[in-house]
Amino acid sequence: MDLLEKIKVNAVKLQNHIVLPEGSELRTLKATAQILQEKIARITLLGNPSVIAAMAKQEGLSIAGANIVDPTTDVNRQKYAEIMVELRGSKGLTIEKAYDLLNDPLCFAVMMIKAGDADGEVAGAINATGDVLRPAFQYVKTLPGVTVVSGLFFMIFKDKTIGDNGMLVFADCAVMPDPNATQLAEIAVTTARSAKSIANIEPRVAMLSFSTKGSAQHELVDKVANATRIAQEMNPDLLIDGEMQLDAALVPEVGQLKSPGSKVAGRANVLVFPGLESGNIGYKLVQRLAGAEAIGPVLQGMAAPINDLSRGCSVSDIVNMVAITANQAGEKKV
Ligand code: ACO
Repeated sequence: MDLLEKIKVNAVKLQNHIVLPEGSELRTLKATAQILQEKIARITLLGNPSVIAAMAKQEGLSIAGANIVDPTTDVNRQKYAEIMVELRGSKGLTIEKAYDLLNDPLCFAVMMIKAGDADGEVAGAINATGDVLRPAFQYVKTLPGVTVVSGLFFMIFKDKTIGDNGMLVFADCAVMPDPNATQLAEIAVTTARSAKSIANIEPRVAMLSFSTKGSAQHELVDKVANATRIAQEMNPDLLIDGEMQLDAALVPEVGQLKSPGSKVAGRANVLVFPGLESGNIGYKLVQRLAGAEAIGPVLQGMAAPINDLSRGCSVSDIVNMVAITANQAGEKKV
């Protein structure tokens, strides 16, 4: 069974409740019909119920099992507005402004999660990453002990000799433009934890740079070397090494030559990029030129699972992301 199949089977067992704020978007509606048919999750769609019902009817989609909520009239608006003011009143949020913000399904979805009325959210088919993430950062916030949300990709290769049986984990490819050493260390520790909990692999983390163990001197190299040290302090049991170049991380002979004795060099399965530019470009290069399947971005570090889609996403991308989100929500409860 491949990774996505396992994730879907587990989602069916968990039966978590996922809110989809882009309820009147066609791919989202088609995905909802499939999710309900395959029993991957319980679904709430946000939007105007008559518009959603008319679209579903016109497209011949069976979404009768979905809960449909209109954020502009829902009975929970007062409860959510009060929580919002409790959390951000000190930053100047008034109750009137909170009611106004709740008209935005992206904000309403986050408040459903915060109030315990949903387990997770998937959005981004028609909204930019920043618009999906900002309310999540503001109200759901990060897990205890975590300050940085980041995004990983599971990169799946046909060649099963690559990484762990054809899988590498890349991060951060989606969120944090320019992490400092401590933030980068946190990204490494969080990614290793996600790799273990979602994909069940024993993480061997390479902290990537254009230098291997001091072969170049630059403040960017120092950042990665410091991040490696901090990550090791944060989690002494973690198999992590750096700074190292990509070839030293992946190719056994090069790893042996450039970083002799390293338990990670030449056999890394988790690659942590020094910043978002290299991470985002890196995963797309591997996806487009090496033909790897890129599953993600899976956001990690948030207090509840909220995941962002690419605006070019397909119906099956949405189905898969709902299954992943349901898995992440499941982990949180145990
Ligand atoms: N983790 C946790 N909290 C964060 C993070 C983070 N990575 N970034 C910002 N925050 C918090 C801030 O502390 C702030 O909290 P506060 O209001 O309680 O003080 C809140 O979020 C809002 O912060 P802003 O500074 O207003 O948000 P910012 O302008 O930094 O935007 C954003 C954050 C949208 C994530 C920004 O970093 C961004 O645009 N990142 C790139 C996203 C992107 O475009 N990725 C590539 C596309 S995805 C793909 O290709 C797969």
